[in-house]
Amino acid sequence: MESTVNPAMNRIPDHIAIIMDGNGRWATRQGMPRLSGHFQGYKTLHNTVIWAANLGVKVLTAYAFSSENWTRPEDEVEGLMELVLVALRAEIEMMMEEGVRIVRSGRSEGLPDEVVREFDHTTQQTQSNSRITLNICLNYGWRNEIIDAARRVAEMAANQRIQPADVDEKLLSSLMYRPELPDPDLLIRTAGELRVSNFLLWEIAYSEIYVTQTLWPDFSEEDLGKAIASYQLRTRKFGAVVDEQQAD
Ligand code: IPE
Ligand code: IPE
Ligand code: MG
Repeated sequence: MESTVNPAMNRIPDHIAIIMDGNGRWATRQGMPRLSGHFQGYKTLHNTVIWAANLGVKVLTAYAFSSENWTRPEDEVEGLMELVLVALRAEIEMMMEEGVRIVRSGRSEGLPDEVVREFDHTTQQTQSNSRITLNICLNYGWRNEIIDAARRVAEMAANQRIQPADVDEKLLSSLMYRPELPDPDLLIRTAGELRVSNFLLWEIAYSEIYVTQTLWPDFSEEDLGKAIASYQLRTRKFGAVVDEQQAD
């Protein structure tokens, strides 16, 4: 199997979504506190945004904190929220230089006010950047995303704005958190777990999946290249009959 990206194949995924997993294991293996793994993971994300932008990826979605991660020890949760603030402030320069527009997916409710404020401020500052969109899933859970969409459908129906037959794929897609973004072409999970952990279940319906044993803090440009090279060898069928020889 080819292990390097072939830009000539013209099949660089437009949208890559990443479940950045393994920070805790990385830290524990080095005898360090879990938070140092999260800090290293943030550094990896900084690098990955630049590598992805340079390859021509248009959207990078990163799972940073799930709706279930609130069950972790209080100091880890607090440390992660603090890290979000530190990272937003430290990365503004990189985002302006590299043309990164940053957006957030997930419920605001539950997040510290300061995190919501700082995030929304950074989104505003970067809104005209157009090389790559960085979509950070923070306090994100797909079950919440579908619950929130269902509530809006119920409101529209209660206000007589729609009929039951109006509920279709197009309407529901428009009610997801980031309807303006294309669905992910490639879903990467680091640290080897074979599960989706409540991540983008609507949006990844036809994404190609790549799982690597590499722990997120160790994820390298070569790992990203291997994931994209694997994607380039896939035949996307979307349920149809496709001649695998003809499809590139
Ligand atoms: C992923 O790394 C980051 C977050 C969930 C915030 P983990 O913290 O889940 O790392 P492991 O799975 O314990 O190694
Ligand atoms: C998924 O990782 C969430 C993030 C990467 C933010 P988890 O470590 O929370 O997932 P599980 O618990 O292994 O399923
Ligand atoms: Mg984990």
